[in-house]
Amino acid sequence: MVVSDTLVMDPLLRMILSKAGIENLLPHQKEIIEKLEENGRSLLISAPTSSGKTLPVIWLAGRYVKEGRRVIYAVPSVALVNEKVNELQELLDDLAIVKKVGEEDAWKEANIVCGTFDQLYLYFLKNIDALRNFSLMILDDFHVLYHKKRGFTIEKLVTLALMNNIRIVAMSATIEPLDGIAKWIGGDYLRYGKDARIVPLSYRVLELEKGEDVVDKIREDMKPCIIFCSTKQFAESRAQKLAEKLKSTSLSLFEKQIGKKEKRRLNVQEILGEFDRKGVEITEYEEELAECIAKGVAWHHSDVDRRIRELIEKWYNDGYIDFLFATTTLAYGFNSPTRTVIIADIMRWDPDAKRMEYIPVHEWLQMVGRAGRLGFSEGGVVYTCVRSKEQRNVVESRYHAERIEECESSIIEDDFFRKAILELIYAGMNTDEEIKKFFLNTYYYTRGKSKIRWISPDIEKEIESHVRALYELGFIYPTHAGYKLTDFGKITAEFLQKTYRWYELSELSRLREDIKSRDEIKSSSEAIVITLRHLKPLWLEPSEGEGKNKIDDYFKQKFGRLPEYYEYTAYIVLREWIRGRRIEDIEKDYGRWAIYVRSIAEDLSEALNLFKAIAELEKVKFPEDFDLAVEMVRYGLSSYEIPLIKVKGFGRVRIHNLYVKMREVPIIADRLKQNVDKTIIDTLV
Ligand SMILES: Nc1ncnc2c1ncn2[C@@H]1O[C@H](COP(=O)(O)OP(=O)(O)OP(=O)(O)O)[C@@H](O)[C@H]1O
Ligand SMILES: [Mg+2]
Repeated sequence: MVVSDTLVMDPLLRMILSKAGIENLLPHQKEIIEKLEENGRSLLISAPTSSGKTLPVIWLAGRYVKEGRRVIYAVPSVALVNEKVNELQELLDDLAIVKKVGEEDAWKEANIVCGTFDQLYLYFLKNIDALRNFSLMILDDFHVLYHKKRGFTIEKLVTLALMNNIRIVAMSATIEPLDGIAKWIGGDYLRYGKDARIVPLSYRVLELEKGEDVVDKIREDMKPCIIFCSTKQFAESRAQKLAEKLKSTSLSLFEKQIGKKEKRRLNVQEILGEFDRKGVEITEYEEELAECIAKGVAWHHSDVDRRIRELIEKWYNDGYIDFLFATTTLAYGFNSPTRTVIIADIMRWDPDAKRMEYIPVHEWLQMVGRAGRLGFSEGGVVYTCVRSKEQRNVVESRYHAERIEECESSIIEDDFFRKAILELIYAGMNTDEEIKKFFLNTYYYTRGKSKIRWISPDIEKEIESHVRALYELGFIYPTHAGYKLTDFGKITAEFLQKTYRWYELSELSRLREDIKSRDEIKSSSEAIVITLRHLKPLWLEPSEGEGKNKIDDYFKQKFGRLPEYYEYTAYIVLREWIRGRRIEDIEKDYGRWAIYVRSIAEDLSEALNLFKAIAELEKVKFPEDFDLAVEMVRYGLSSYEIPLIKVKGFGRVRIHNLYVKMREVPIIADRLKQNVDKTIIDTLV
């Protein structure tokens, strides 16, 4: 196509290109820029991974700033926020003040505010008027809309923007239906196919025999390589297995090549030193990870401390790490010199459907798109592991054919619909009119209209029924000036904003009813059991085997019956976690799910704070040592050990070991005996 002269001459574009060290725009990049320049309409850009979608929108952001208008830049993760802020700052130089959500004066003075979808939604929910100061919202990695929970946030964020007539520019390599989504954002779309990916990817299938693991198939010539795993545990255990293999098999291809040739390695002390410099507390977990990294292998998932993740990404980019085992946390937007991507698992457990499901095609495409990045490598190879003939067929007919599914709105589900209303009322958009205006701007509404053309959805009626449900569940009540939150509604709305776990409104309402029906909560363990009974997302469902039998036996002996689901969590939290059992031992004893204990415990402690707030609201007496119990659950320590968390650099295991050792010292043991209520620290001083 012929590029207009004005475009070539545009000084802003020239500045960006020279700062990026890019000589020429790719044809589709030119087209995108021209389209963006053409009018002020919203635009959905669909172009393959690694096709350089960022550059045109950075140019647009710069253009807006030049005209004195302000821009929001939304991305899925904090890591990407950091990356985008750096990129924007570098390319736009002193033209724009770029700030992250949460940074001082970001909302007051920045020309471009960068944040995650969550951060931005929460901010605008509470400060809806602030949206009027912005003219453009750029949404990167828009396919997150597929994700039930995070997609819900994006949908609400975009809806608020649409209500305020803000121009939307969204991009993704993998989203459908383009026309439907473009209609929702009130704009156009551009679609580019495979040709727009300059660095080609070749797709291959990797067959695994029974008993064979992906680690057995990893070869030296694949590096740098990302191996995507379906669970965090897989990422960790496979990384450790590979690291172990690199150590033990002296005759392997690995040893010969890695051992002798390039030893671009960090040693354990250097690695731990870097963790420490970032302010990360070093526990056994970090030590094990460091051991792995020293061999050029690492794992990366959402439970790994964010500061460590950033280091891992950097070391991977710098060639200190060759094999990176990751979950979807690394699937979006990540630029690196990756040569090979291996998809280790194409099926994963779907907790809602309660069965194994194939991962969606759009997600697969994002993961494989991490290979062969423009400017980093000449080509990319993608291996997808299959464990049966059926899986091979699916890979070939669905994934390799890139048959992307259509995206649905999460608001289809009642609980989502209701939560959206609850949040609107929380934010003061509390009249029927305001609520209706919001829903008319959702993807849910546009999608509904396009799917069932012959009946137009009666949004008023739907809102009415969900408002009634919220009233019946005790969250809201009507007044002449619109709906108001009850006290319970208010604490719930705030609790939900702080947690990533998905509690249904009906569960929370039942928890309240249960607390309300009592005069007194006798012990903290009773509160734990009640909380767990109602809040399903905190259940550690039993796996088959030893651990299950152990808990079953305990219940049979003590209560003459088998435990209910929630009681498995209660047992582990109360008998093993609080008593300082090592997490690895808990895992060994209780099977696949024990690794989740740490995050379950943290969220349970938050839920216990909610429990306390409800009990206070309902004037139900609860034990005095409740706050201490909450801390014990959070840290996995006994009451005696809790004060030791104040010692810097001490994690759970170290504290527990120290405590055990201290108890062995006769003089301390003596004092402890005399002062049964005192903690070790009190005893010592
Ligand atoms: N015209 C160009 N010539 C050479 N390199 C380019 C060009 N445009 C962009 N790049 C580089 O290509 C890489 C990938 O670009 P970018 O991150 O924008 O991809 P993307 O389309 O957003 O991919 P994804 O969908 O995976 O996020 C970046 O490192 C970028 O600097
Ligand atoms: Mg991108």
